[in-house]
Parts: sequence; structure tokens; C-alpha cells
Amino acid sequence: MKKLIIGILLTLPASVFAQPSSQVAWTPEQLNFVKNGNPSKGQELAKACAGCHGDKGISPSPTYPSLAGQLPTYLYKQLQDYKNGNRADPMMGPVAQGLSEQEAADLAAWFGSQPAVFQSASLMNYEQAENLVKNGNRERTLPPCEVCHGKDGKGQAMDIPALSGQNAAYISYTLKTFKNGTRRNDIYSRMRLIAESLTDQEIDELGFYYQNIKN
Ligand code: HEC
Ligand code: HEC
Repeated sequence: MKKLIIGILLTLPASVFAQPSSQVAWTPEQLNFVKNGNPSKGQELAKACAGCHGDKGISPSPTYPSLAGQLPTYLYKQLQDYKNGNRADPMMGPVAQGLSEQEAADLAAWFGSQPAVFQSASLMNYEQAENLVKNGNRERTLPPCEVCHGKDGKGQAMDIPALSGQNAAYISYTLKTFKNGTRRNDIYSRMRLIAESLTDQEIDELGFYYQNIKN
């Protein structure tokens, strides 16, 4: 029996073992550090991001997320998560590893200060998506998205991202990675639990819904 258990443990991927979903802890010091990020230094550094995220954080491609108008604390947390391997991506991993904490805070301040741009998308099933956003679903114990992401989709302190104006393709892609567990950097599994009970079709509709919310 003992051998069997050891055998099973050896075959499990390392990620199964109690790895925190994020190493970022929002202490008052950490919040102040991000709040004091220097946007003009961030603007200089952001030249290295422009190819994928656009000059001012409006992504030229629907598969790359826009960063303009996003909460700096959320942006900073994601950069630390990529750096520490808590969020895995072959493009962002090496980018984040090359950034100091100060540079991450400066970049977060710059992108967060840029205005988000509204890009309309054709809607699939507006009513169904709106119903999930505003009412959730009791049978599936799904809370309404707007409880956390806000009525205007602009997110909330500290770590709840804005979704309004984000690319639909990116939203549905990232929700599917929460659903299948490849994205696992959400503290308390808040998004994994929600995404698990959404169908792929609902996920796609929610992406279009949020891309269409005016900022
Ligand atoms: C080669 C293309 C590329 C470059 C260059 C790049 N990124 Fe990214 N970035 C991506 C992709 C792709 C994703 C989405 C990855 C995923 O699904 O986790 C992403 C995601 C992000 C996210 C998470 C956004 C969210 O909504 O969760 C942040 C923050 C970010 N990038 C910041 C930066 C910064 C800052 C730079 C420059 C220092 C940069 N990126 C350079 C491709 C790139
Ligand atoms: C209990 C609060 C809560 C609820 C309810 C909630 N979210 Fe989230 N959501 C979060 C948090 C926190 C994060 C950030 C996770 C992290 O740290 O990476 C997040 C992240 C996301 C992201 C990733 C955004 C990005 O830029 O990568 C998407 C997309 C998203 N949520 C969509 C939704 C949708 C759609 C719903 C409703 C079906 C929903 N959320 C309901 C808390 C919530």
C-alpha cells in the first residue's frame, strides 16, 4: 500500500503540490509600492511591449490582451505571477523574468493611465450573456460577474481586472484556461470555480459581451 502511494505521488506533476496560486500579498507597503510606480519610466520601458500590446496598450491583435486602462495592481500582480511561474505563458514568462519589481510597477502605472478604447464586436447571444453578468445562476451557484468585475466592467481594487473593452478572443481564451486549470494564478480559485461551471458557448458569449461594454 505504502509503495503504491509513493508510486502515485511520484507520477504527479509538481504543480499538484501545494503551490500558492500567487506570491503577491497585498500588504499596505506592497499597495503603496505599486501606487508609486513612475508612469514616464513605464512609458520608456513599454516600447518593448508595443509589438504585441500596442503603443498605448491597445492590442493590435485580438489574441493579445489590451492593457490600457487596466488596474495597475492587477497588471503588477500578473507580471509577478508570470515571473514566478504562477501563470505560465511562453511569451510572457521570459518578458516578466527580465523585469525588476520597480520596472513592473512603472509599466503598470503607465498602461493603467492610458485610456481604454472601445472596439465593438458582433454579438452572439446578448441576453444570455447579460443574464449571467447581472444575475448569475443559482442552480450552478454562479455569482453574477458584476458583483466582482463591477456594473461597468471596470474591475475593483485590488486584483479584480477590468473586462470592458478587452478583446473577446482573449477573454474567452483565458476563461477556458481557468476552466481547464492551466491558468491557476487566481487567489482562492475564484475564477477557476466560476469558469468550471460555464459552457464553452457561454464563455464565448461573455467575451463578446464584455468587448462591447463602452468604457
Ligand atoms: C511577443 C509578444 C508579447 C510581448 C513582447 C509582451 N507581451 Fe504581454 N502578453 C502577451 C500574450 C500572448 C499574453 C497573454 C498570455 C496568457 O494567456 O497568459 C500577454 C499578457 C500580458 C499581461 C496579462 C494581461 C491580463 O489581462 O491578464 C500583462 C500584464 C502583460 N502581458 C504585460 C506585458 C508587458 C509590460 C510587456 C513589455 C515589458 C509585454 N507584456 C510584452 C504577449 C506579449
Ligand atoms: C468572486 C469574484 C469574481 C466573480 C464573481 C467573477 N470574477 Fe472574474 N476575476 C476575479 C478575479 C479576482 C480575477 C483575477 C485573477 C488573477 O489574479 O489573475 C478575475 C479574472 C477574470 C478574467 C481574466 C481577465 C484578464 O485580463 O486576464 C476574466 C476574463 C474574468 N475574470 C471573467 C469573469 C466572468 C465572465 C465572470 C462571470 C461569469 C466573472 N469573471 C466573475 C473575480 C471574480
